[in-house]
Amino acid sequence: MRIHIHGSDEIRSSEITPERIYMNRRRFVGRAAKLAAAAAVSPSLLACAPSPGRSEELSDSGGSGEAGRSGAPGQSGIQERDWSAVRSELDEPLTRYEDVTTYNNFYEFGTGKEDPAKNAHTLRPRPWSIAVDGEVARPAIYDLEDFVSPHRLEDRVYRLRCVEAWSMVVPWRGFPLADLIRRVEPTGKARFVEFTTLHDPEQMPGQRRGVLDWPYVEGLRLDEAMHPLALLATGVYGRDLPNQNGAPLRLVVPWKYGFKSIKSIVHLRLTEEMPATAWAVAAPREYGFFANVNPEVDHPRWSQARERRLGQLRKRPTLMFNGYAEQVEQLYAGMDLRRSF
Ligand code: MTE
Repeated sequence: MRIHIHGSDEIRSSEITPERIYMNRRRFVGRAAKLAAAAAVSPSLLACAPSPGRSEELSDSGGSGEAGRSGAPGQSGIQERDWSAVRSELDEPLTRYEDVTTYNNFYEFGTGKEDPAKNAHTLRPRPWSIAVDGEVARPAIYDLEDFVSPHRLEDRVYRLRCVEAWSMVVPWRGFPLADLIRRVEPTGKARFVEFTTLHDPEQMPGQRRGVLDWPYVEGLRLDEAMHPLALLATGVYGRDLPNQNGAPLRLVVPWKYGFKSIKSIVHLRLTEEMPATAWAVAAPREYGFFANVNPEVDHPRWSQARERRLGQLRKRPTLMFNGYAEQVEQLYAGMDLRRSF
Protein backbone atom coordinates (compact mmCIF):
# COMPACT_ATOMS: atom_id res chain seq x y z
CA MET A 1 0.00 0.00 0.00
CA ARG A 2 1.16 3.49 -0.58
CA ILE A 3 -0.13 6.41 1.41
CA HIS A 4 0.10 9.86 -0.06
CA ILE A 5 -0.06 12.64 2.47
CA HIS A 6 -2.08 15.48 1.00
CA GLY A 7 0.12 18.41 0.20
CA SER A 8 3.41 16.55 0.23
CA ASP A 9 5.33 15.73 -2.92
CA GLU A 10 6.24 12.21 -1.86
CA ILE A 11 5.43 9.87 -4.71
CA ARG A 12 6.56 6.29 -4.86
CA SER A 13 7.22 5.52 -8.47
CA SER A 14 6.62 2.16 -10.01
CA GLU A 15 6.22 0.92 -13.51
CA ILE A 16 2.68 0.39 -14.68
CA THR A 17 2.00 -2.21 -17.27
CA PRO A 18 -0.94 -1.05 -19.34
CA GLU A 19 -3.51 -3.68 -20.04
CA ARG A 20 -5.11 -3.10 -23.41
CA ILE A 21 -7.58 -5.85 -23.79
CA TYR A 22 -10.92 -4.89 -25.14
CA MET A 23 -14.07 -6.80 -24.88
CA ASN A 24 -16.20 -8.49 -27.43
CA ARG A 25 -19.41 -6.52 -27.04
CA ARG A 26 -21.60 -9.28 -28.34
CA ARG A 27 -20.30 -11.65 -25.68
CA PHE A 28 -20.98 -9.01 -23.05
CA VAL A 29 -24.55 -8.50 -24.19
CA GLY A 30 -25.19 -12.24 -24.17
CA ARG A 31 -23.87 -12.61 -20.65
CA ALA A 32 -25.88 -9.61 -19.46
CA ALA A 33 -29.07 -11.15 -20.82
CA LYS A 34 -28.36 -14.42 -19.02
CA LEU A 35 -27.72 -12.66 -15.73
CA ALA A 36 -30.84 -10.55 -16.10
CA ALA A 37 -32.88 -13.70 -16.64
CA ALA A 38 -31.33 -15.30 -13.55
CA ALA A 39 -32.12 -12.18 -11.53
CA ALA A 40 -35.75 -12.37 -12.59
CA VAL A 41 -35.96 -15.90 -11.20
CA SER A 42 -34.14 -15.18 -7.96
CA PRO A 43 -34.88 -11.87 -6.23
CA SER A 44 -32.01 -12.43 -3.81
CA LEU A 45 -29.57 -12.44 -6.72
CA LEU A 46 -30.72 -8.94 -7.49
CA ALA A 47 -30.03 -7.83 -3.93
CA CYS A 48 -26.25 -8.21 -4.10
CA ALA A 49 -25.11 -9.82 -7.28
CA PRO A 50 -22.45 -9.32 -9.90
CA SER A 51 -23.63 -6.67 -12.29
CA PRO A 52 -23.72 -7.76 -15.90
CA GLY A 53 -20.46 -6.76 -17.38
CA ARG A 54 -20.39 -3.03 -16.94
CA SER A 55 -16.65 -3.18 -16.41
CA GLU A 56 -16.09 -4.48 -19.90
CA GLU A 57 -18.41 -1.82 -21.23
CA LEU A 58 -16.26 0.78 -19.53
CA SER A 59 -13.03 -0.51 -21.00
CA ASP A 60 -14.72 -0.57 -24.36
CA SER A 61 -15.38 3.13 -24.05
CA GLY A 62 -11.81 4.11 -23.48
CA GLY A 63 -10.49 1.99 -20.68
CA SER A 64 -8.70 2.72 -17.47
CA GLY A 65 -5.97 0.21 -17.94
CA GLU A 66 -3.32 2.87 -18.08
CA ALA A 67 -2.17 5.03 -15.25
CA GLY A 68 -1.69 8.01 -17.49
CA ARG A 69 -5.37 8.05 -18.30
CA SER A 70 -6.75 7.60 -14.87
CA GLY A 71 -8.51 10.71 -13.71
CA ALA A 72 -6.93 12.67 -16.51
CA PRO A 73 -7.92 16.34 -16.53
CA GLY A 74 -10.40 17.22 -19.20
CA GLN A 75 -13.33 14.88 -19.15
CA SER A 76 -13.60 14.84 -15.38
CA GLY A 77 -12.01 18.19 -14.64
CA ILE A 78 -9.79 16.62 -11.99
CA GLN A 79 -6.83 18.95 -11.95
CA GLU A 80 -5.85 19.46 -8.34
CA ARG A 81 -3.15 16.85 -8.59
CA ASP A 82 -1.38 14.93 -11.28
CA TRP A 83 -3.23 11.74 -10.40
CA SER A 84 -1.47 9.86 -13.13
CA ALA A 85 1.64 10.05 -10.96
CA VAL A 86 -0.05 8.66 -7.87
CA ARG A 87 0.33 4.93 -8.08
CA SER A 88 -0.36 2.08 -5.76
CA GLU A 89 2.41 -0.16 -4.56
CA LEU A 90 1.25 -3.14 -6.58
CA ASP A 91 1.98 -1.40 -9.87
CA GLU A 92 -1.68 -0.96 -10.54
CA PRO A 93 -3.25 1.96 -12.35
CA LEU A 94 -5.96 3.97 -10.66
CA THR A 95 -9.50 3.32 -11.77
CA ARG A 96 -10.74 6.32 -13.75
CA TYR A 97 -12.68 8.99 -11.87
CA GLU A 98 -15.53 8.54 -14.33
CA ASP A 99 -15.73 4.84 -13.49
CA VAL A 100 -15.37 5.26 -9.72
CA THR A 101 -18.29 7.70 -9.76
CA THR A 102 -20.67 6.02 -12.20
CA TYR A 103 -20.38 2.33 -11.28
CA ASN A 104 -21.66 2.20 -7.71
CA ASN A 105 -23.44 0.17 -5.11
CA PHE A 106 -25.70 2.42 -3.03
CA TYR A 107 -29.02 0.67 -2.71
CA GLU A 108 -30.62 3.70 -1.12
CA PHE A 109 -30.70 5.02 -4.71
CA GLY A 110 -31.49 1.82 -6.60
CA THR A 111 -29.94 -1.58 -7.15
CA GLY A 112 -28.48 -0.97 -10.61
CA LYS A 113 -24.82 0.02 -10.89
CA GLU A 114 -25.73 3.23 -12.71
CA ASP A 115 -28.68 4.15 -10.47
CA PRO A 116 -26.73 5.99 -7.73
CA ALA A 117 -25.06 8.38 -10.17
CA LYS A 118 -28.46 9.08 -11.77
CA ASN A 119 -30.53 9.32 -8.62
CA ALA A 120 -28.35 10.52 -5.75
CA HIS A 121 -28.88 14.21 -6.55
CA THR A 122 -31.73 14.10 -4.01
CA LEU A 123 -29.24 13.61 -1.17
CA ARG A 124 -28.35 16.84 0.65
CA PRO A 125 -24.88 16.29 2.12
CA ARG A 126 -24.77 19.75 3.71
CA PRO A 127 -25.60 20.72 6.37
CA TRP A 128 -24.90 17.29 7.89
CA SER A 129 -24.49 16.12 11.44
CA ILE A 130 -22.93 13.01 12.91
CA ALA A 131 -23.69 11.58 16.36
CA VAL A 132 -21.04 9.63 18.26
CA ASP A 133 -22.24 7.88 21.40
CA GLY A 134 -22.50 4.60 23.28
CA GLU A 135 -19.47 3.44 25.23
CA VAL A 136 -17.51 6.70 25.03
CA ALA A 137 -16.56 9.30 27.62
CA ARG A 138 -17.31 12.14 25.20
CA PRO A 139 -20.57 11.56 23.34
CA ALA A 140 -21.40 14.39 20.95
CA ILE A 141 -23.37 15.47 17.94
CA TYR A 142 -21.08 17.22 15.50
CA ASP A 143 -21.61 19.39 12.47
CA LEU A 144 -19.70 17.84 9.59
CA GLU A 145 -17.15 20.68 9.70
CA ASP A 146 -16.51 20.22 13.45
CA PHE A 147 -16.30 16.48 12.97
CA VAL A 148 -13.65 16.72 10.27
CA SER A 149 -11.67 19.90 11.00
CA PRO A 150 -9.44 18.62 13.86
CA HIS A 151 -8.06 15.96 11.52
CA ARG A 152 -5.38 16.13 8.85
CA LEU A 153 -6.75 14.86 5.58
CA GLU A 154 -4.61 12.40 3.64
CA ASP A 155 -4.88 10.95 0.15
CA ARG A 156 -4.62 7.18 0.22
CA VAL A 157 -4.70 4.80 -2.71
CA TYR A 158 -6.55 1.62 -1.76
CA ARG A 159 -7.91 -1.35 -3.64
CA LEU A 160 -11.66 -1.82 -3.16
CA ARG A 161 -12.86 -5.42 -3.67
CA CYS A 162 -16.62 -5.84 -3.84
CA VAL A 163 -18.12 -9.12 -2.65
CA GLU A 164 -19.56 -9.34 -6.17
CA ALA A 165 -16.05 -10.04 -7.54
CA TRP A 166 -15.30 -6.70 -9.18
CA SER A 167 -12.67 -4.29 -7.88
CA MET A 168 -11.20 -0.83 -8.28
CA VAL A 169 -8.12 1.13 -7.23
CA VAL A 170 -9.27 4.37 -5.65
CA PRO A 171 -7.47 7.44 -4.30
CA TRP A 172 -9.54 8.35 -1.26
CA ARG A 173 -9.16 11.48 0.85
CA GLY A 174 -9.86 11.17 4.56
CA PHE A 175 -8.46 10.57 8.01
CA PRO A 176 -7.86 7.50 10.18
CA LEU A 177 -10.96 6.25 11.97
CA ALA A 178 -8.65 5.56 14.94
CA ASP A 179 -8.07 9.31 15.39
CA LEU A 180 -11.80 9.91 15.75
CA ILE A 181 -12.18 7.02 18.17
CA ARG A 182 -9.36 8.32 20.37
CA ARG A 183 -11.00 11.73 20.33
CA VAL A 184 -14.25 10.43 21.86
CA GLU A 185 -12.43 8.25 24.45
CA PRO A 186 -13.88 4.73 24.44
CA THR A 187 -14.84 3.31 27.84
CA GLY A 188 -13.43 -0.03 29.02
CA LYS A 189 -16.64 -1.72 27.83
CA ALA A 190 -16.33 -0.71 24.17
CA ARG A 191 -15.66 -3.72 21.92
CA PHE A 192 -17.33 -2.79 18.61
CA VAL A 193 -18.16 0.25 16.51
CA GLU A 194 -21.54 0.42 14.80
CA PHE A 195 -22.02 2.77 11.82
CA THR A 196 -25.39 3.89 10.47
CA THR A 197 -26.31 5.55 7.17
CA LEU A 198 -28.88 8.35 6.99
CA HIS A 199 -32.46 7.09 7.06
CA ASP A 200 -34.61 9.49 5.07
CA PRO A 201 -36.72 8.12 2.21
CA GLU A 202 -37.27 11.67 0.94
CA GLN A 203 -33.57 12.03 0.25
CA MET A 204 -32.93 8.33 -0.34
CA PRO A 205 -35.91 7.05 -2.36
CA GLY A 206 -34.55 3.50 -2.49
CA GLN A 207 -35.40 3.24 1.21
CA ARG A 208 -39.07 3.07 0.19
CA ARG A 209 -38.33 -0.42 -1.14
CA GLY A 210 -37.72 -3.32 1.21
CA VAL A 211 -34.43 -4.40 -0.34
CA LEU A 212 -32.77 -4.16 3.08
CA ASP A 213 -33.97 -3.48 6.59
CA TRP A 214 -33.14 0.26 6.53
CA PRO A 215 -31.11 2.08 7.62
CA TYR A 216 -27.94 0.45 6.34
CA VAL A 217 -25.82 -0.52 9.34
CA GLU A 218 -22.24 -1.76 9.43
CA GLY A 219 -19.78 -2.59 12.17
CA LEU A 220 -16.19 -3.32 13.07
CA ARG A 221 -14.53 -4.84 16.08
CA LEU A 222 -12.83 -2.04 18.03
CA ASP A 223 -9.32 -3.31 17.19
CA GLU A 224 -10.24 -3.40 13.50
CA ALA A 225 -11.60 0.12 13.75
CA MET A 226 -8.36 1.25 15.41
CA HIS A 227 -6.24 -0.24 12.63
CA PRO A 228 -4.36 2.51 10.78
CA LEU A 229 -5.72 1.39 7.40
CA ALA A 230 -9.37 2.02 8.40
CA LEU A 231 -10.29 5.38 6.92
CA LEU A 232 -13.15 7.84 7.27
CA ALA A 233 -13.30 9.31 3.78
CA THR A 234 -14.61 12.71 2.81
CA GLY A 235 -13.29 12.72 -0.72
CA VAL A 236 -12.10 10.86 -3.76
CA TYR A 237 -9.55 12.04 -6.32
CA GLY A 238 -8.91 15.07 -4.14
CA ARG A 239 -12.50 16.29 -4.33
CA ASP A 240 -15.42 16.03 -1.95
CA LEU A 241 -17.19 12.69 -2.28
CA PRO A 242 -19.92 12.77 -4.91
CA ASN A 243 -23.30 11.79 -3.46
CA GLN A 244 -23.22 8.40 -5.18
CA ASN A 245 -19.95 7.54 -3.43
CA GLY A 246 -21.33 8.23 0.03
CA ALA A 247 -21.19 11.98 0.60
CA PRO A 248 -20.32 13.58 2.85
CA LEU A 249 -18.63 10.89 4.95
CA ARG A 250 -18.07 7.16 4.45
CA LEU A 251 -15.98 4.36 5.80
CA VAL A 252 -13.24 2.65 3.78
CA VAL A 253 -11.91 -0.67 5.09
CA PRO A 254 -9.70 -1.93 2.26
CA TRP A 255 -9.07 -5.48 3.52
CA LYS A 256 -12.79 -6.26 3.74
CA TYR A 257 -15.45 -6.69 1.06
CA GLY A 258 -16.82 -3.37 -0.13
CA PHE A 259 -20.16 -3.70 1.65
CA LYS A 260 -18.37 -2.99 4.96
CA SER A 261 -17.45 0.46 3.60
CA ILE A 262 -20.70 2.12 4.62
CA LYS A 263 -21.73 5.40 2.99
CA SER A 264 -23.32 8.68 4.13
CA ILE A 265 -22.75 7.99 7.83
CA VAL A 266 -24.83 9.86 10.43
CA HIS A 267 -24.14 7.81 13.55
CA LEU A 268 -21.24 5.97 15.15
CA ARG A 269 -21.98 4.00 18.31
CA LEU A 270 -19.41 2.16 20.40
CA THR A 271 -20.94 -0.98 21.84
CA GLU A 272 -20.26 -3.98 24.00
CA GLU A 273 -22.25 -6.29 21.70
CA MET A 274 -21.52 -7.15 18.09
CA PRO A 275 -23.75 -4.91 15.92
CA ALA A 276 -26.44 -6.47 13.72
CA THR A 277 -25.21 -5.39 10.29
CA ALA A 278 -27.47 -4.86 7.29
CA TRP A 279 -26.23 -7.63 4.98
CA ALA A 280 -25.64 -10.15 7.77
CA VAL A 281 -29.26 -9.63 8.86
CA ALA A 282 -30.60 -9.79 5.30
CA ALA A 283 -28.72 -12.96 4.27
CA PRO A 284 -26.79 -14.47 7.21
CA ARG A 285 -25.64 -17.50 5.22
CA GLU A 286 -24.10 -15.31 2.56
CA TYR A 287 -22.67 -12.29 4.37
CA GLY A 288 -20.89 -12.44 7.72
CA PHE A 289 -19.90 -9.76 10.15
CA PHE A 290 -16.18 -9.95 9.36
CA ALA A 291 -16.36 -10.06 5.55
CA ASN A 292 -12.58 -10.17 5.17
CA VAL A 293 -11.58 -10.61 1.54
CA ASN A 294 -10.68 -14.29 1.26
CA PRO A 295 -10.16 -16.06 -2.08
CA GLU A 296 -10.46 -19.44 -0.33
CA VAL A 297 -13.98 -18.95 1.00
CA ASP A 298 -16.49 -18.78 -1.82
CA HIS A 299 -19.75 -16.95 -1.64
CA PRO A 300 -22.47 -19.64 -1.64
CA ARG A 301 -23.47 -18.54 -5.16
CA TRP A 302 -20.14 -17.67 -6.78
CA SER A 303 -16.39 -18.07 -6.45
CA GLN A 304 -14.28 -15.46 -4.68
CA ALA A 305 -11.03 -16.79 -6.13
CA ARG A 306 -10.82 -14.18 -8.88
CA GLU A 307 -12.04 -10.70 -9.59
CA ARG A 308 -12.50 -8.28 -12.44
CA ARG A 309 -10.82 -4.92 -12.11
CA LEU A 310 -13.07 -2.20 -13.48
CA GLY A 311 -11.84 -1.14 -16.89
CA GLN A 312 -9.89 -4.33 -17.52
CA LEU A 313 -11.13 -7.46 -19.21
CA ARG A 314 -8.96 -10.19 -17.81
CA LYS A 315 -9.80 -11.50 -14.37
CA ARG A 316 -7.05 -11.51 -11.77
CA PRO A 317 -6.56 -13.68 -8.67
CA THR A 318 -8.09 -12.22 -5.54
CA LEU A 319 -5.53 -11.64 -2.80
CA MET A 320 -5.96 -12.67 0.83
CA PHE A 321 -7.22 -9.68 2.79
CA ASN A 322 -7.29 -7.90 -0.57
CA GLY A 323 -3.49 -7.72 -0.53
CA TYR A 324 -3.26 -6.19 2.97
CA ALA A 325 -2.50 -9.47 4.82
CA GLU A 326 0.85 -8.29 6.07
CA GLN A 327 -0.76 -5.33 7.78
CA VAL A 328 -3.93 -6.95 9.16
CA GLU A 329 -3.62 -10.72 9.55
CA GLN A 330 -2.53 -10.47 13.19
CA LEU A 331 -6.00 -9.10 13.98
CA TYR A 332 -7.38 -12.55 13.21
CA ALA A 333 -4.70 -14.77 14.76
CA GLY A 334 -6.27 -18.00 16.02
CA MET A 335 -9.59 -17.34 14.29
CA ASP A 336 -11.09 -19.87 11.88
CA LEU A 337 -11.54 -17.65 8.84
CA ARG A 338 -13.93 -20.15 7.23
CA ARG A 339 -16.36 -20.02 10.10
CA SER A 340 -15.93 -16.34 10.92
CA PHE A 341 -16.58 -15.10 7.44
N1 MTE B 1 -23.39 1.91 1.98
C1 MTE B 1 -24.72 2.12 1.96
N2 MTE B 1 -25.28 2.95 2.85
N3 MTE B 1 -25.55 1.49 1.07
C2 MTE B 1 -25.05 0.60 0.16
O1 MTE B 1 -25.81 0.03 -0.63
N4 MTE B 1 -23.06 -0.55 -0.71
C3 MTE B 1 -21.78 -1.13 -0.29
C4 MTE B 1 -20.80 -0.04 0.20
N5 MTE B 1 -21.47 0.90 1.07
C5 MTE B 1 -23.64 0.35 0.16
C6 MTE B 1 -22.84 1.07 1.09
C7 MTE B 1 -21.14 -1.93 -1.32
S1 MTE B 1 -21.86 -3.46 -1.65
C8 MTE B 1 -20.00 -1.54 -1.94
S2 MTE B 1 -19.16 -2.59 -3.01
C9 MTE B 1 -19.45 -0.18 -1.75
O2 MTE B 1 -20.28 0.63 -0.92
C10 MTE B 1 -19.32 0.48 -3.12
O3 MTE B 1 -18.72 1.74 -3.00
P1 MTE B 1 -18.59 2.64 -4.32
O4 MTE B 1 -19.96 2.72 -4.93
O5 MTE B 1 -18.07 3.96 -3.86
O6 MTE B 1 -17.63 1.90 -5.22
